[in-house]
Amino acid sequence: MNGRLVKWEAAKIHVLTHALHYGSGVFEGMRVYPTKQGPAVFRLDDHIKRLFRSASFYSMKIPFSEQELIEAAVEVVRENKLDSGYIRPIAFYGYGVMGLSPDGAPVEAAIAAWPWGSYLGEEGLVKGIRCKISSWRRIDPKTLPTQAKACGNYLNSILAKTEALRAGFDEAIMLNLKGKVAECSGENIFMVKKERLVTPPADAGVLEGITRDSVIRIAEAFGLKVFEKNIKKNEVFSADELFLTGTAAEVTPVREVDGRKIGSGGRGPITEKLQKKYFEVVRGEETRYRDWLTFVSRTQ
Ligand SMILES: Cc1ncc(COP(=O)(O)O)c(C=O)c1O
Repeated sequence: MNGRLVKWEAAKIHVLTHALHYGSGVFEGMRVYPTKQGPAVFRLDDHIKRLFRSASFYSMKIPFSEQELIEAAVEVVRENKLDSGYIRPIAFYGYGVMGLSPDGAPVEAAIAAWPWGSYLGEEGLVKGIRCKISSWRRIDPKTLPTQAKACGNYLNSILAKTEALRAGFDEAIMLNLKGKVAECSGENIFMVKKERLVTPPADAGVLEGITRDSVIRIAEAFGLKVFEKNIKKNEVFSADELFLTGTAAEVTPVREVDGRKIGSGGRGPITEKLQKKYFEVVRGEETRYRDWLTFVSRTQ
């Protein structure tokens, strides 16, 4: 936290922290996986790069270099003796000013890590999850930069996620203001149709997920065609397969949307193939993508 290792209980902030009031923070979510060579963080450099890009939308000057945050993330994993889990870097406007303009507020940065299993459940990874088309529309790029992984954006996700959970579903699919499919509360979405992958483009208002990019590259290496194009709501119902991607959700099949069965109503064969390869890649069992892994040595 702010350049020092602090105990979990001591990682505290002031109640007048700017970001607490206005959502003026940016963050990342990364995973560390066990490999034969010890724990490895998946696409660490890309996540830290996105953190800095997110910060730049809000003129936030993170008081550390990308390299320093990369090394800090590795250190946090090592110090916590984590073999697998989740890593949460965050940079935010701290305590200093109370107006909306954060000018004059210090920028604070912290990285936390903890053990965390599958986000949408082990069973969901195998059998697929049930989604609800949200009554909440995805924030529009003209109102908030959707490309930034900014704290305030997640109020939109919270509304969609809680609505879906309370209605007995696992996750929410959000449409954008044009009525096209955007993404889920914390995942990108892919549709399989006639052995081709289709996913909404960045300008549909989606966060360009790092898992989305990984899956696109894995799919193309399999010879699958991938199209970034707008998806109408009805196309979702007639998809052969549907799946979600995200650091937390990894590659999760969707078996049902609004009570309607998707494809065969389980994990489709293409989803299964991509999911299997994704898990091999993150666990270092596939040499082709080794440069996506940052290994954490047990000792410094
Ligand atoms: C809104 C949203 N979309 C998509 C994603 C997936 O991004 P990634 O694969 O980089 O974790 C996330 C998670 O970070 C997210 O919060």
